[in-house]
Amino acid sequence: MITGLEGKVAIVTGGARGIGLAIATVLADCGASVVVSDVNREMAEQESAKLVSKGRQSIAVSANIASAEDVKNLVATTVSHWGRVDILVNNAGITRDGLLMRMKEEDWDAVISVNLKGVFHCMKAVVPIMAKQRSGKIISISSIAGAMGNAGQANYGASKAAVIGLTKTVAREYASRGITVNAVAPGFIDTAMTAPLSADIKETLLKEIPLARLGTPEDIANTVAFLASNQADYITGQVFHVNGGMYM
Ligand code: NAI
Repeated sequence: MITGLEGKVAIVTGGARGIGLAIATVLADCGASVVVSDVNREMAEQESAKLVSKGRQSIAVSANIASAEDVKNLVATTVSHWGRVDILVNNAGITRDGLLMRMKEEDWDAVISVNLKGVFHCMKAVVPIMAKQRSGKIISISSIAGAMGNAGQANYGASKAAVIGLTKTVAREYASRGITVNAVAPGFIDTAMTAPLSADIKETLLKEIPLARLGTPEDIANTVAFLASNQADYITGQVFHVNGGMYM
């Protein structure tokens, strides 16, 4: 069990399902007060209520991270509720796959708006608060597609590689304020995002994964919880690859 998260206030974007929900759950289980934020208000409220019914501290705040206004409201609501923000997990992300030649400009823009601009909005909104506190942990979910590319995902791979550049830059800018900024790059994780992959594609993928299984949301959540804890105080500007050895 990760220690030192008791009483910490965490925002998890895209927290209503999949990897984000696992992250929200692990952080709450470790004693953090967790804002389950999602563009899907109903699901966020349901999942947050489940955490509360288990005796955890949680509220739900709906926000589309592509909207600067929504993100300002998300952070303001968190601060008015709990008075601080210790941990930001930039997890929300989308795919709009297609080969480059056929990729529509709107699919490019949609993915960049959520996966990259959304992370920018969230970092920008929490950094003044964390800087004043002289402490904070920002963890963004990148992807193996950002590290090694993936055919059919020009928009997604570009957005996830950009998150790594953003992470390293903000890590350098705010280290002196006690804020650490890291990224976790998952491989293929068993969630709704990967559910549409055909059995054939999954079989081919498994051959490329030395540990011979897809990852679970908890595999990612445990890494995030470590990076959010004071056990990771000396780690900043890093990318943690959690992919069963698919990319080394
Ligand atoms: P998912 O599709 O199961 O869940 C994503 C959540 O984000 C949903 O609850 C959705 O409502 C929310 N969301 C979508 N757009 C949003 C927006 N504009 N504002 C706020 N919330 C929004 O996805 P999954 O698989 O849990 O992925 C989570 C993160 O992990 C994403 O950033 C994804 O790119 C990344 N990732 C996932 C991998 C996988 O194999 N599943 C592999 C590598 C990275």
